[in-house]
Amino acid sequence: MWECDDTEQANRLLEGTEAGYVYQRDGHPNADVFADLCGQLHGSEHVAVTSSGMAALSLAVLSQLQQGDHLLVSSQLYGRSEWLLTGEAGRLGITHTLVDALDLDAIEQALQENTRLLVVETISNPQLRVADIAALAEIVHKAGARLLVDNTFATPILCQPLALGADLVMESVSKMMNGHGDVMLGMLAGTQQCWERVPRVCAGWGLASSPMSSWLATRGLATMHLRMARASENALAVAQFLAEQQQAGSLVVDVQYPGLPGHPDHDLASRQLQGGFGAMISFRLAGDSTMADRFLAAAPGLAFCPSLGETSTTLSHPASTSHRGLSEQEAAALGITAGTIRLSVGIESVEFITQALAQGLAGAAS
Ligand SMILES: Cc1ncc(COP(=O)(O)O)c(C=O)c1O
Repeated sequence: MWECDDTEQANRLLEGTEAGYVYQRDGHPNADVFADLCGQLHGSEHVAVTSSGMAALSLAVLSQLQQGDHLLVSSQLYGRSEWLLTGEAGRLGITHTLVDALDLDAIEQALQENTRLLVVETISNPQLRVADIAALAEIVHKAGARLLVDNTFATPILCQPLALGADLVMESVSKMMNGHGDVMLGMLAGTQQCWERVPRVCAGWGLASSPMSSWLATRGLATMHLRMARASENALAVAQFLAEQQQAGSLVVDVQYPGLPGHPDHDLASRQLQGGFGAMISFRLAGDSTMADRFLAAAPGLAFCPSLGETSTTLSHPASTSHRGLSEQEAAALGITAGTIRLSVGIESVEFITQALAQGLAGAAS
């Protein structure tokens, strides 16, 4: 509880002419501590801490757009983000065009007079394609639009989109930034020009963070640089292991990881990401979902867990979880089949992870 000295001070605090706290939805010290740290990592003075990653995206939409505006939406976004930007935003009179974030010419063509925002992910899910943030920013800025980057998979340790020219960056703090699977929180940071409406919209639409989650996430953030370094190092070794399995003719028929020289965005990822290629790997098993189930059952050390970014390695099956709403053709366009497994690599020993994977492959094959 925060007490006001008198009515005059209450007025000043609520108007924002005096710094201080009145009510948690408008601001609280734990969110400010967390926001300061995120601001340092992203090189921004403007950070809003939100109740979830989805709330950060809602905040971007509600603060930046209005009826009659047009959005460009990457066709490789997290499923719920696409739902929000194409379906829910449409209900508010905001139109959209789905674009391939890797096709710069197509994006230039898709820009309209009323295009206000392009939304992409630094590293997409589950194909792990890497968006060229500097090039995208240049294209949209020429048309007077802005760029919002969902940097959840990269975290500010690997990539700082604002420094590359993006106008807004968001993260699901629930994932690698907190890192322990016990918090639901989001973050939006941006430039001065984008920020005027953000604090009022965050408080007024009820998107603000809880003090407890902000406090826990601040503890998580203290080890993010160590966790991301270790998880990235592990992920590269695990991706190499899976690529060897593929070469050896095992059940693995495809491996996607930006750190592998054969990945289509390896050069861009090497330039744009610092200190590693992230914790996420996708690989494909031959056969149908029965094979995926056999693999999951035979690798009990790796939890089948649709979320990601924990200290332990977890597996997900996009066709039955994050992308289950897609038609077969839509899923195929994103490279998702019944055999696609997405791995969120943790900070265990690399031997533990590769042994568990080997066990899963052997069990599925038997
Ligand atoms: C890339 C990405 N962005 C945003 C979100 C939404 O974040 P939250 O679950 O914190 O609302 C997720 C959740 O999985 C995600 O993977």
